[in-house]
Amino acid sequence: MSQAAVLPETAAFSIAPLTPAIGAEISGIDLSRPTDAATRAVLREALLQWKVIFFRDQDITTEQHLAFARQFGELEVHPFAPHKEGYPEVLAITHNRERPGKENKWHSDVTWRECPSLGSVLRAVEVPDVGGDTLFSDMYAAYDGLSEEVKGKIDGAVAVHDFAHFRKLMEKAGKTPEEIKEMNRKYPMVEHPVVRTHPETGRKGIYVNIAFTQHIVGMEKAESDALLAHLYAQAAVPEYQCRFRWQKNSIAFWDNRACQHYAAADYWPAVRQMERVTIIGDRPY
Ligand code: SIN
Repeated sequence: MSQAAVLPETAAFSIAPLTPAIGAEISGIDLSRPTDAATRAVLREALLQWKVIFFRDQDITTEQHLAFARQFGELEVHPFAPHKEGYPEVLAITHNRERPGKENKWHSDVTWRECPSLGSVLRAVEVPDVGGDTLFSDMYAAYDGLSEEVKGKIDGAVAVHDFAHFRKLMEKAGKTPEEIKEMNRKYPMVEHPVVRTHPETGRKGIYVNIAFTQHIVGMEKAESDALLAHLYAQAAVPEYQCRFRWQKNSIAFWDNRACQHYAAADYWPAVRQMERVTIIGDRPY
């Protein structure tokens, strides 16, 4: 699909890829205003093609951030992570001297949910002078690059996902065993395919991640651990990646069904303040 082919004749904006595989910066668009159907279709197509799209200089309000994301689906309320006061759907991701960055693990958002995220829209409120880039990795390319032997082992396999990391944080924060039990009941471990077929593109991609995946169902622990380690390592292959350098009011919109991301935690003790809105997706197959 050529980029020119997806742009309507009247489009005033342009799409500049960051790498051949993943990531494109879109300029000439104002996200503070509702987009028309043609523009929305182009953005969706660009998201599907590039897996993550970037926008610069979007000095938008929280309401406009929410309204932009809502054009692509229903929004979730994260049950564990802190939200912006008065906006339950806006995740407040703030790091500073007291709270060093910790999103430096490759992952796709909320895969511990039965219906994990379609995509996330992240806005930079305050960024360090240098550092705090986010890296994205193309999970289709990661799957395509596997050997036939590994593909044979994982096609049709299913893995368990869990919010283990948040459970530890709750324990540290002094939540009672009853409160944690209640969360376990509300968000039980879920099974998702190790190789996910994207519901819109039909392409296959790796759908396990080091942050939330526990084990592959029906496999000995040693074999499951070794296979998962091999699959996790694919996210770190530079040829599958792009890296985004943030500025205040930059926005990234990524497809959690097709890529993973990693926020470099190299900026301590500087402040990095981001706000994320997460669009609910469908049950992976
Ligand atoms: C996230 O993991 O969703 C946040 C990524 C970032 O802060 O760059």
